[in-house]
Amino acid sequence: MGYCISVCIEKGGVGKTVTVTNMAALMAQSGKKVLVVDMDAQGNCTYTLTGARVTDSRFARCGVYDMLRAYGISGAENYVSRTEFAGIDIIPANANTPMASRQLQILAQSENESINSFLAMSLAQVAENYDYVLIDTPPSRDLMVTNALVASDFVLIPCVCDDYSRDSVYRTIGMCRDLEKDEGVPIDILGILLTMVEKTALTEVIRDELRSGQFGNKLFKAEIRKGQAVKDSTRLGAPVVLCARTSNPAKDYVKAYEELESRIREKEA
Ligand SMILES: Nc1ncnc2c1ncn2[C@@H]1O[C@H](COP(=O)(O)OP(=O)(O)OP(=O)(O)O)[C@@H](O)[C@H]1O
Ligand SMILES: [Mg+2]
Repeated sequence: MGYCISVCIEKGGVGKTVTVTNMAALMAQSGKKVLVVDMDAQGNCTYTLTGARVTDSRFARCGVYDMLRAYGISGAENYVSRTEFAGIDIIPANANTPMASRQLQILAQSENESINSFLAMSLAQVAENYDYVLIDTPPSRDLMVTNALVASDFVLIPCVCDDYSRDSVYRTIGMCRDLEKDEGVPIDILGILLTMVEKTALTEVIRDELRSGQFGNKLFKAEIRKGQAVKDSTRLGAPVVLCARTSNPAKDYVKAYEELESRIREKEA
C-alpha cells in the first residue's frame, strides 16, 4: 500500500500547487504510480497536469465533487483521469468543485460518519493502485482541507520566508493535531519545505526561527529557490523539473524529493 500526502498550508500563494506537480513528476520519473487529487476550486494543479481549465468539458463530470456525490454508489476509480504525464493520474478540479463542501455537509447528514472522513473513505480503495496519492489543497481551513488531512498519512507544508507564512505553518500543524484527536487518525507532519527562497536577511531570520522552534526537526534541509523558470513552467503547462531541468528550482525539487523519500523511509524503519 502506498502513502497519501497532502500538501497543505492555510496561507495562499506559497507554492502548494507547484510542489504537488513537481513532486508528482519526480515520483513518476522514479517509476512510482501517482494519483493527484485536486481539492482546490482554482484548479491550478489540474491545469498544469492536463491542460484543462475548470470550465473544460473534458472533466465536467469526473471531479472531486462528482466523486463525493456518488459516495456509496460509484467507486472513486470512475473519477480518475489520465494526465499528460506517464505515471500520473488525477481526480481533477472542475466547475463543480465549489459545491464539494456542500456535498460533504449533505453526506454528513445522511451517513453516520464524521464530516471530515468522506474523502478518506472515498479514496481508500483506489489508493491501493498507487504508490503515492498527492493531494493539492486550497488556501483555507475548510472542509476540503480537513478531508484532505484526514485522508493523509503525511502532510508536507510549504512555506515562504515571511512572518505570515511562518505563523500559518504553526496554525496548520495545530489544525492537524486537532484533527488527529477529533478523528482518531494519525496525521504525521512529514516536513516544512521553504519555497521561493531568496538571499535576504528576512530569509535568514525566518529560517532560524523555524529551525529553533518546536518543529525545528520538521524543517527540510532542501530548500526551493525562487526562479523565473517556475513561472515560465506554469505557462508551458509542465512541472519545472521536466521543462527546465537545469534551473535552480528544478534542482532543488530533486533534492526535496530525495529528502521526502528518505524521511518516509526513516518513519517506516
Ligand atoms: N520556486 C519558485 N520560484 C518562483 N515562483 C514560484 C516558485 N514557486 C511558486 N512560484 C509561483 O508563485 C505563485 C504561487 O505558487 P502556487 O500556485 O504553487 O502556490 P499555492 O500555494 O498553490 O497558491 P494557492 O494558495 O493560491 O493555491 C505561482 O505564480 C507560481 O508560479
Ligand atoms: Mg494552489
